[in-house]
Amino acid sequence: MIFSLSDFHFPDATPRLYPQTAGRPWVLEIGFGDGRFWPHHAAMFAEPPNYLGVELSGVSLLKAQRRLKSAGLNNAILTKLPADVLLREVVPRGGLDTIVVNFPDPWPKAGHLEHRLLRAPFFQLAASRLKPGGAVLLTTDHDEYFDFACQAARDSGVMHVELTGPPPAALETKYALKWRDLGLSAQHARFTPTAHPDVPHGDVRPYPEDPEQVPHAILTLPAEFTPATPGQPFQKRTARGGDWTVILLDLYASLRRDGWVALAHVVEGELTQEVLVGITAREDGSHLVRLARFGGPIITPGVKAAVGAVTEWLEESGGRVTHRGY
Ligand SMILES: C[S@@+](CC[C@H](N)C(=O)[O-])C[C@H]1O[C@@H](n2cnc3c(N)ncnc32)[C@H](O)[C@@H]1O
Repeated sequence: MIFSLSDFHFPDATPRLYPQTAGRPWVLEIGFGDGRFWPHHAAMFAEPPNYLGVELSGVSLLKAQRRLKSAGLNNAILTKLPADVLLREVVPRGGLDTIVVNFPDPWPKAGHLEHRLLRAPFFQLAASRLKPGGAVLLTTDHDEYFDFACQAARDSGVMHVELTGPPPAALETKYALKWRDLGLSAQHARFTPTAHPDVPHGDVRPYPEDPEQVPHAILTLPAEFTPATPGQPFQKRTARGGDWTVILLDLYASLRRDGWVALAHVVEGELTQEVLVGITAREDGSHLVRLARFGGPIITPGVKAAVGAVTEWLEESGGRVTHRGY
């Protein structure tokens, strides 16, 4: 089953995600590629563990979905997200038995090391989300990244590093086969938490049912207010806060001519969302600025700030705010 970010709870729980098999172990695979690991690995169990797979590539997601479906693996959820966001916001503390990383992108250039997944903050987050006795399993052909990851695990202060042989299924992935054909071998490490640090979940929640809880503002606009005139493109605006950047990209007029929709690009760490913020006329002549439900936005500090950025832009254009709900 494919989940988007808005299908999850923050944090989520196995009885909700896997209602038929909630008592089974829970495995997360990061960067599953075309999905060959899990059918091979699951075949070793009489009852396949619950599986959560995270990938950045949409094409890989569809290939893996087909593979898992034809293997009859029903207790498997695939999602297209940065792994860090899934682990931090969706996985509950102490929820996972195993985190599997097979042949992660090595980012070999000197200036690109910060793109590597397996750095000390990742190991702290992983230790927080693993059960006691759980483990991160790394298999890679890249010796330099392997040493880097082992050192990062030690530097995290919360992982014991054990060098062992890889699970056989890790040698059946697309990249494993590619490196084997080139005569290269893979290394494997098992990282087990020595402590479970308290890495908190962020201030993230789904779009609420109650309109009062949707980030919004009410304001009175000047009678002569026109946000843009034809031929004069909307001027992009950027706002920055502690952990977020909001760029107001464009503005669209409603065909009813009594409102507009602003398109905002919101970046928070690895999480990027494009959201719509509506500006609609109310019966009393005031205007409501509110995050639109379209696209299933997840409400984060940055998304609230996008509503704030639209409101502030309208204030600069002569609007008078009577209520702020963001
Ligand atoms: C070298 S490929 C290995 C794929 C597969 N594990 C295999 O062994 O064939 C690395 C994969 O990790 C994915 N990836 C990279 N960074 C990621 C991240 N932050 N979150 C989720 N997936 C990621 C990439 O899209 C890519 O498919």
